[in-house]
Amino acid sequence: MSEPLVIGIESSCDETGVAIVRGTELLANEVASSVEQHVRFGGVVPEVASRAHLQAIVPALRRATEAAGVDLADVDGICVTAGPGLMGALVVGLSAAKALAIALDKPLYGLNHLVGHVAVDLLDHGPLPERFGALLVSGGHTSLLVVDDITGAITEVGSTIDDAAGEAYDKVARLLGMGYPGGPLIDRAAADGDPTAIAFPRGLTSRKDLARHRFDFSFSGLKTAVSRWVETRELAGEEIPVADVCASFQEAVCDVLTAKAMDMCDHYGLDTILLGGGVAANSRLRGLLQERADAAGVTVRRPRPGLCTDNGAMMAALGAEVIRRGRPASSLGIGANSGLP
Ligand code: KG4
Ligand code: ZN
Repeated sequence: MSEPLVIGIESSCDETGVAIVRGTELLANEVASSVEQHVRFGGVVPEVASRAHLQAIVPALRRATEAAGVDLADVDGICVTAGPGLMGALVVGLSAAKALAIALDKPLYGLNHLVGHVAVDLLDHGPLPERFGALLVSGGHTSLLVVDDITGAITEVGSTIDDAAGEAYDKVARLLGMGYPGGPLIDRAAADGDPTAIAFPRGLTSRKDLARHRFDFSFSGLKTAVSRWVETRELAGEEIPVADVCASFQEAVCDVLTAKAMDMCDHYGLDTILLGGGVAANSRLRGLLQERADAAGVTVRRPRPGLCTDNGAMMAALGAEVIRRGRPASSLGIGANSGLP
């Protein structure tokens, strides 16, 4: 088979994404975000997200098809996020994908959103290596993975035992009154701060914790520590040095993420570490991982920041791989699975 031509559809949270990919080439990537509608609530409101997906999905599909300049009759498969994510949001993308699959008489592939965050890098840096490690950091998940086959053999060797990294960014931004989503705002504010100003805790790094949770993460203690630090200053009537708080918080997050990712590479003998998920857009995380990987002789792969947050390209990239490796299509009766592991 020549390089598969696939449509990727993503609607697990607040971004409606439709992309078209041929093999490892990104032909179109349309993303419509409903983030503005959630700002005043300080987080994604599922019902609002579902309605926004309904309005955005057909126009996004039309724009993607036009931008790619392809005939839909030529596609080899419709690849869509089946989970994890918000149930009502997932159902919109999945229904659109099923309708397309029926109308075009093409196979449907219901795929895992989190694996899409890893696969998307092949659009920027070509085919994935045989075996590699991945640090997956998004708004809902934080995991260390050993990937032997992106279409199936993926082992989660560690994950967060409480908040995800993105969730911690969003919560800390909220308590500093910065807005939503917090990740990009803290990233920007931290640029003017001193990362050594405040010694915030590094979760699950004590000798005792490492014995049980070597590759796991915990960010809720860090969030509480930031909250207490800020509260104490506020009660004393002191000004909050927001940039320093952001930089010190960010340093604590990125220090633990990169240290454990490098420890995984060392332990499992991995010579490549791939960074994926929304938090992978973070400038300090990208820089610190590169620094530590260089020192350890490990190759870093990370997609451009624009492909780190949710989009259709990640599902199309994974779908192209699934089709190229001849994996079976999904049944048209496949349901959304909000808790897909
Ligand atoms: O992967 P994603 O787009 O959606 C999920 O699947 O969850 O990740 C969204 C998360 C949010 O928590 C957002 O604050 C965070 O990614 N994020 C960032 C940055 N850009 C997005 N966190 C830190 N630094 C950034 N530059
Ligand atoms: Zn995501």
